[in-house]
Amino acid sequence: MNILGIETSCDETAASVVKNGHEILSNVIVSQIDIHKKYGGVVPEIASRNHLLKINGVIKKAVDDAGITINDIHKIAVTAGPGLIGALLTGLSSAKAISYITSKPLIPVNHIHGHLYSAYMGRDLDKVFPSLALLVSGGHTSILLLKSIKDITLIANTRDDAAGEAFDKVAQFMGLGYPGGPSISKAAEMGRWNAIPLPLPLAAKKVMAFSFSGLKTAVMNYLKNNPKVNTNDMCASFEHAACMHLLNKFEICLKKYKPVTASLCGGVSANTRLRQYFQDTCKKHQTQPIIPPLNLCTDNAAMIAGIAYHLDSKDDYLELNSFSSSDLNNFNNGPSKSQNISTGV
Ligand code: KG4
Ligand code: ZN
Repeated sequence: MNILGIETSCDETAASVVKNGHEILSNVIVSQIDIHKKYGGVVPEIASRNHLLKINGVIKKAVDDAGITINDIHKIAVTAGPGLIGALLTGLSSAKAISYITSKPLIPVNHIHGHLYSAYMGRDLDKVFPSLALLVSGGHTSILLLKSIKDITLIANTRDDAAGEAFDKVAQFMGLGYPGGPSISKAAEMGRWNAIPLPLPLAAKKVMAFSFSGLKTAVMNYLKNNPKVNTNDMCASFEHAACMHLLNKFEICLKKYKPVTASLCGGVSANTRLRQYFQDTCKKHQTQPIIPPLNLCTDNAAMIAGIAYHLDSKDDYLELNSFSSSDLNNFNNGPSKSQNISTGV
C-alpha cells in the first residue's frame, strides 16, 4: 500500500511516499526559512503563497523519487490541521484535486498525530504500547499517553508558550535569527550549562503542566542587566533549564504511568541535549526510549503518509476544511464536514 503524504501546515512544503506505513520511498521537503528569516518568524500570507508556488513540483518530485507513477499510489494523506489556515488549505486543496482526478481515497491527518507516529514508524506496534510521549514542537508542548496508535490521552500541556516557541523567542531577543532552536543549540555546544542560574518553571509543584514564559522572561531580564554575558553560556544555560523542566515533568508521569516505552517527538526533539537527557531519564526509570531520526523530528510528510496507513479515509473529503487549533483529546483524523475545531488547548 503506497500512500502519498502532503504537509503544508507551516513553512515547509513537503510530500512523501510511504509504503505500508513504514517504508519511506521518498521524502521531499522545501523549506521557506530563508524567506521568513528577515521577518524574524513565519509570515502566514507569505507562507501560503510560497506553498502555492512549490506544491506541484514537490508532489511530482516525491512520486518520481519513489520510482513510481501516480497510478501506483493507493491513497492520498494530507495534514488538515493544526497549523496556519492558508498554508494548510494549499496542501488540502492539492490533495482533494489529486483524489478527485485519480479517484483515490483521501485521508485527513492531524499534524500532531503525525509527529507522535514519527517516533514509532518502523517499530513493531504490538510491542511499544502503552507509551508515554513527550511532544515538543513550535506550537505544542504536551505529554500524551498512548494505549495504541489511535487511543491517545492528553496528560499535560503548556500553560503558555510551547518549548519551540520559547527557543525561537529567546533566540530572537539574542539576535540569533529564526528559527531559534537550531541556533541556540549550536551556540550552546560551546557554552557552560551551569554558567547562569535560571529558574526551573513550576519546580516546587507536582503539577502536571509546562510553562515557559517565566523562563523566557528570566533570560531576557538577565540579558538586560548583564549585556556583556557570554552568548554561548546563556544559550547552554537556557537550553539546560528548558530540558530539565521538560524532563522533570515527564519523570513524574513516567513514575505514575509506568509505560513500556517513552517517545520524544516534534521539532525540538532534534535538540541534542534534550535527546541525551531524555535517554538518561528513561534509563533511570527502566523505560525503553524511542526517539525519531533527525529527518523525522521537524515537519515532514513521511510522518503524515505513515500514520495515514492506520487511519480511515473520508468519503465526504470534498467537504473537508483545514483547522488551526487542535483538541489533543481528539485524534479521529480531523473534523469531517466544513467545521472548524476551535476548542484550543
Ligand atoms: O515540529 P516543528 O518542525 O513545527 C511545528 O509543528 O511547530 O517544530 C519547529 C520548532 C521550532 O520552534 C524550532 O526552533 C524547533 O522546533 N527546533 C529546535 C531544534 N530544531 C528545531 N529546538 C531546539 N533545538 C533544535 N535543534
Ligand atoms: Zn510540526
